[in-house]
Amino acid sequence: VADITAVKGVKDILPEEVPRWEEAERRFRAVFGNYGYREIRIPTFEDTQLFRRSIGEETDIVEKEMYTFTDKGGSSITLRPEGTASVVRAFIEHSMAHLPQPVKLFYLGPMFRHERPQKGRLRQFHQAGAEVFGLAGPEAEAELLEMVMQLLTREFGLQDLSLQVNTLGDDACRPAYRQALTGYLEIHRHGLCENCRRRLERNPLRVLDCKAEGCRAIARGAPVIGGVLCGECRSHFDRFLSLLDEAGVPHQVNPHLVRGLDYYTRTTFEVLGGSGLGAQNAVAAGGRYDNLVAAFGGPPTPGLGFALGMERLLALLPPEFAGTGPRVLYLAAADGEGRLLARSLARSQRARGVAVALDLLGRSLKAQMRAADSMGAAWVVVLGAQEAASGRCVLKEMTGGWREEIALADLGTALERRM
Ligand code: HAM
Repeated sequence: VADITAVKGVKDILPEEVPRWEEAERRFRAVFGNYGYREIRIPTFEDTQLFRRSIGEETDIVEKEMYTFTDKGGSSITLRPEGTASVVRAFIEHSMAHLPQPVKLFYLGPMFRHERPQKGRLRQFHQAGAEVFGLAGPEAEAELLEMVMQLLTREFGLQDLSLQVNTLGDDACRPAYRQALTGYLEIHRHGLCENCRRRLERNPLRVLDCKAEGCRAIARGAPVIGGVLCGECRSHFDRFLSLLDEAGVPHQVNPHLVRGLDYYTRTTFEVLGGSGLGAQNAVAAGGRYDNLVAAFGGPPTPGLGFALGMERLLALLPPEFAGTGPRVLYLAAADGEGRLLARSLARSQRARGVAVALDLLGRSLKAQMRAADSMGAAWVVVLGAQEAASGRCVLKEMTGGWREEIALADLGTALERRM
């Protein structure tokens, strides 16, 4: 074992896994593109205040999970625990409110949270996410979720997914809800964890998201917002649900669904991935955040979005998911002249875009054939003095399906025909 290993909760993605990642990312890009989203590449670190003020001071992410450090210039920097805050910052910073609305953006990349690592929970993990700005109506949520569920069920073939939806109200009705919730939680104060007792006054909704067993039991009996929703939030939510029905997207209303981030207004949702994932079974999640752009000094602009955990998605996909890598031509050499010829053919074939392998260890022909076999090469050509003299060679399929005698100069076109 090396004397330095990867940091706990952080994983290498090894070459044999990369085709799965690439294939998944390719499908995300294609579907996001079909729905009019354009890619944005946001930085991996930001001013710490960006996350404190958007995700919320009392959240687990901000209280316990951020990778925060002071840089050499004395600024407080945080590795991004999620992507929404950065996209909102970029939206404002680049005056995207002046663009034709809606503005639809997506991102792919690593996020960082100092959580306790376990199955499906990492400290560096990857998200595919999308954010939409400038759409206030429930049609936006419905289209977003149609896209998310189309991705998961049709593009990735997942079954047994459960889409849970909820509404958290808005500035008009949430104060009444907070009051009702605070009243209830005060009664059960003695059963709450220390952290939640502290959170109670400033942010009672956070108690509903606490992982402590005692708090969870209390949360299950807590009042739900449904009873105090204002008329506009009620009709927004009802219309959203009927649009989901119209789109044929199955869903369950879960009035106890709370999110680990403070910026949501109205609609929130989570897609649960079934038993294959263990305890960490949320594959994707998101919601509406109509106050966030204005909270950072931008023009009041409604927003909504979602993010999906790539590791959790890949854990649900069958082993055969993934494009196979490129098909490889193995140039085996029988003698010194063959080696010279192999190097030169490798050069010209690689320049044409063919993946070529050849022996650089001076191994015997037999050992080269074994190497070609174990790397899974698709074709082989054996080269030696005779091929050098005649200018012809035999192109063989490794599995022995066919062989073809051709001029060395025609190797490229012969391969193209066979691909
Ligand atoms: P989130 O629920 O914190 O939301 O994360 C979204 C997804 O990222 C989760 O459902 C899960 O699949 C994955 N995930 C989160 N933490 C981990 C972890 N430690 N290890 C592995 N996977 C993880 C957000 O991040 C919001 N920004 C979503 C959003 C976008 N809301 C509006 N727009």
